[in-house]
Amino acid sequence: MTRREPSRSIPNLWDDVYAAQLDEPGLLLYRSNLLGSDLRITNFGGGNTSAKAGMIDPLTRKKTDVLWVKGSGGDLGSMKLDGFASLYLDKFLALKELYRGLAYEDEMVELFNHCAFNLNPRAASIDTPLHGFVPHKHVDHMHADAVIAIAASADAERLTKEIYGGEMGFLPWQRPGFDLGLKLGAIASGNPKLSGVVLGGHGLFTWGASAKECYLMTLRIIQRAADWLDQNAQKPSFQGARIASATAATRSTAAKQLMPLIRGKISKNERKIGHFTDAPEVLEFVNSKAVDALAPLGTSCPDHFLRTKIRPLVLPFDPTSGKAEDIAAKLDDQLAAYRKDYESYYNRCKFADSPAIRDPNPVIFLIPGVGMLSFAKDKATARIASEFYINAINVMRGASGVSSYVGLQEKEAFGIEYWLLEEAKLQRMPKPKALAGRVAFITGGAGGIGSATAARLLSDGACVVLADIDEAALTERVEGFGKQFGKDSVRGLSVDVTSEASVTSGFSEAVQLFGGLDIVVSNAGIASAASVEDTTLALWQKNMDIMSTGYFLVAREAFRLMQKQATGGAIIFVASKNGLAASAGASAYCAAKASEIHLARCLALEGAPHGIRVNTVNPDAVLQGSKIWQGEWRDQRAASYKVEPGGLEEIYRQRSMLKLSVLPADIAEAIAFFASDRSAKSTGNILNVDAGNAQAFTR
Ligand SMILES: NC(=O)c1ccc[n+]([C@@H]2O[C@H](COP(=O)([O-])OP(=O)(O)OC[C@H]3O[C@@H](n4cnc5c(N)ncnc54)[C@H](O)[C@@H]3O)[C@@H](O)[C@H]2O)c1
Ligand SMILES: [Zn+2]
Repeated sequence: MTRREPSRSIPNLWDDVYAAQLDEPGLLLYRSNLLGSDLRITNFGGGNTSAKAGMIDPLTRKKTDVLWVKGSGGDLGSMKLDGFASLYLDKFLALKELYRGLAYEDEMVELFNHCAFNLNPRAASIDTPLHGFVPHKHVDHMHADAVIAIAASADAERLTKEIYGGEMGFLPWQRPGFDLGLKLGAIASGNPKLSGVVLGGHGLFTWGASAKECYLMTLRIIQRAADWLDQNAQKPSFQGARIASATAATRSTAAKQLMPLIRGKISKNERKIGHFTDAPEVLEFVNSKAVDALAPLGTSCPDHFLRTKIRPLVLPFDPTSGKAEDIAAKLDDQLAAYRKDYESYYNRCKFADSPAIRDPNPVIFLIPGVGMLSFAKDKATARIASEFYINAINVMRGASGVSSYVGLQEKEAFGIEYWLLEEAKLQRMPKPKALAGRVAFITGGAGGIGSATAARLLSDGACVVLADIDEAALTERVEGFGKQFGKDSVRGLSVDVTSEASVTSGFSEAVQLFGGLDIVVSNAGIASAASVEDTTLALWQKNMDIMSTGYFLVAREAFRLMQKQATGGAIIFVASKNGLAASAGASAYCAAKASEIHLARCLALEGAPHGIRVNTVNPDAVLQGSKIWQGEWRDQRAASYKVEPGGLEEIYRQRSMLKLSVLPADIAEAIAFFASDRSAKSTGNILNVDAGNAQAFTR
């Protein structure tokens, strides 16, 4: 496990030439981005930095001391200057006069924003006093795994002394806020020789006279902890392995089998997206003798358990003697026990004004021999929860290797999880989008209508798998959507809908990527034209393979998965006006499309008892973006209307009743309707999106 090798030291990335051109806020940003770029220094979204700098007051035009400190939200690694709050330092320090004591510390948070310098709208975070009251100019607060390991040890204070020989102070665990800020300020003022302070169960503070000095100090203090742990930790970690890992293929199969089952059981109130990892440090932990004792102790750093919940659920399993089905059989009982445990934790700890109990389901699932699953409201949150639990594993490894690991006390953990300030943050979050937490699988997803549909479903908050045979187009689409909607929510899979094996493996890959399936858009297709006497068996067969058999194979796999998940589903077939309206010279295509339409209706009948809705959208003459309309088909159609290919769009517009062109986004709109709960009471329907064509009226 390379991340623990002492030789892997944290590199000093400071570039003097680059830094020389920066002003103080610029230097603070530079330092923050460097610190946030290495997960050994701080976890994603964790930690904060500050600088106290002289600035010209826009009102008085006089120089005044300003506290620049990372504001609420965002991540150090990627933040921009607007991520910092800026406060008049004198106004901030004067807040001490208003402070009424520990029981009232939360009321101070609102006052921070009254100290805003230069009308900076960024909200100051609850950690602001931990920077503001420290007399040093540059201050870093990091959540380094190596230091948290020391801080979460039973004898954290003694270890801090032993490792740093008095260079670092120590403060026992206390929830961050005004009071802890005062204590930190006092210790720093009273001990001018300290380089920083270790916060019990939490992380570290370090400081320096310049941005560079502070950066180097932070690196040195963290490196020292990492080296010391390496030299002193008992080997093997976690008391050694109890079982061996299953093979990579078996691990992946187990994840594919379990994810939709679990997802179904924990998504009754809010759909969750899943994430699977079998990273080496995860396997080392879940396979170890210590997992059963350590996992229930919960995570330590507040950042960790806000994302991971206080405890994971361990699903006992031995891959040498058992099968994933054995885990599945016990799942209901284990989930019920977890929820009950969470409810009693809530009831034991709650205050009169605590927010109502939140979702009692686990976020993290540990499976010996297999790895770790995490579930959250969207893919990024599920992935980040998983990364945070890896941070927690690193902390437990470090602490239990040199001492004994202590999780945060239950009351304290509750105090943070149900903190009214945290609740206020949650209440301020935008309402979830219509398809948040849903997973969509789109065949022909790299084509014109498929990619317009993907864009639409992504913007409605869904995770999307594009399944197509055109790999070059897939790569391009996935890259584009990644830039537009974030990389976490979109993936491309090479799937041939005419192949049973390809469809089956495509769906199970999708399940491993996102945890399950809610929406299937069966859209892969081609077009062909030939008089019946010129229709070869091969051409007939090709149409049938892709658009009749292919739609059957895709729907069958969707049914199997959706039934396993037991949360219903929406299947949408993209057929054609030609499936309803007979058209001369294209019998193979028309017959295949008609077969789709009738298949959809049969499946609507079979799906209804399971909450699976099946509907059809019929496009007509969607030239824009369509690959069908780029080749031979377009030339044939143009020839039959006796126009240049460029004139076709106009021909079709004039042919429609409404005299409108039909665009890919129009088809996507109809699909999005059938995909969402807005159409919860519609199944077996056909929606023509063809700008009006009397021949295709349904009856
Ligand atoms: N564009 C129109 O005017 C129109 C009209 C009526 C119906 N339709 C239907 O809409 C659907 C989408 O068409 P489009 O206009 O976006 O065309 P398109 O060619 O741009 O997209 C179709 C996609 O399906 C993929 N595909 C083909 N065979 C496949 C297979 N065996 N497995 C997986 N993927 C495969 C292609 O690679 C392509 O990316 C098709 O079913 C088509 O019949 C289109
Ligand atoms: Zn912190």
